[in-house]
Amino acid sequence: MTVREALEWAGAQLQAVGLPEPLREAQALVAACLGWERAQLIAHPDALLSARHARRLHSWVRRRAAREPLAYITRRVWFYGLELMVGRGALIPRPETELLVEVFLGWAANLPPSLRFPPLREGNQPDSVPPASRGNLKEGVACSPILVDAGAGTGTIALACLMHAPHWLGIGIERSRRALRWAQANRRRLGLESRLLLIQSDWLHGLRAGSVDAVLSNPPYVLPDEWDALQPEITRYEPKSALLTPADDPLRPYRRIARGARCALRAGGLLAFETSPRLAPLLAERLPAWGFRQPRIVCDYAGIMRVVWAIRE
Ligand SMILES: C[S@@+](CC[C@H](N)C(=O)[O-])C[C@H]1O[C@@H](n2cnc3c(N)ncnc32)[C@H](O)[C@@H]1O
Repeated sequence: MTVREALEWAGAQLQAVGLPEPLREAQALVAACLGWERAQLIAHPDALLSARHARRLHSWVRRRAAREPLAYITRRVWFYGLELMVGRGALIPRPETELLVEVFLGWAANLPPSLRFPPLREGNQPDSVPPASRGNLKEGVACSPILVDAGAGTGTIALACLMHAPHWLGIGIERSRRALRWAQANRRRLGLESRLLLIQSDWLHGLRAGSVDAVLSNPPYVLPDEWDALQPEITRYEPKSALLTPADDPLRPYRRIARGARCALRAGGLLAFETSPRLAPLLAERLPAWGFRQPRIVCDYAGIMRVVWAIRE
């Protein structure tokens, strides 16, 4: 089978099951299956697929036709200019979450110079987490500001922020062991082992008081009454525990994170959440009572309320 034939066959299979963009998805599958860039498909339409590649493509197309998300099949997803690895057990990073990274980077750029460009000090250890959990965070950077990604999933938010804020260190906290494995793989792939500590824990439990500068989180925020309207790619394959918030207390994850952040953040530190348009106004209203001033709601490019952030008093 040639590349052209593979594209036609895969496109036809995906069209037959009613996927909205069969050609684009066929290109993505054939390119990933061969380990090529998409442009190479156009440049080499007559190249032959090996028997191994053809078998893999058949299996991948069958999985996609059963509505498994493309990112779980190819194990790759783009987020804020980074190619990340993802698979079953971890939420697939979404473009909406890039706004949270932008809010952090905008806030961090306006910090006083002493925090933006801290002096390096030899022989010290970051002290946000107890010594036993410090893992491989680089020594000699005790003055670097520290961000926390609460519910890190594949490490998405922390990794993107650290790539663009080179003086910062990060702590990624995640409850799911499977998700944490993807975060570890991404941290290694991006060479951030010395700047990002990954911990399996329950939200901010165990962080030292006043030891971090920013807490960022995209917690589960889908309400049970919204579940049935979601695509089958989400409801059949992505972890429910990464998506659903309780109907009787939808702000529970936010309240728990805010309570931990109230303790772990230094005064003047940032707390920023991704959320839904239904929860954003409620969250902004509650933040002052939880110890955070000047709550602000930021809309995404579609005009949808997406990020709520505030400053620790
Ligand atoms: C919406 S996903 C966000 C994942 C990732 N930050 C992203 O934006 O792609 C929420 C994440 O929070 C994690 N989580 C849920 N409850 C948690 C808890 N009590 N402590 C730590 N992580 C939790 C889930 O496992 C999931 O990975």
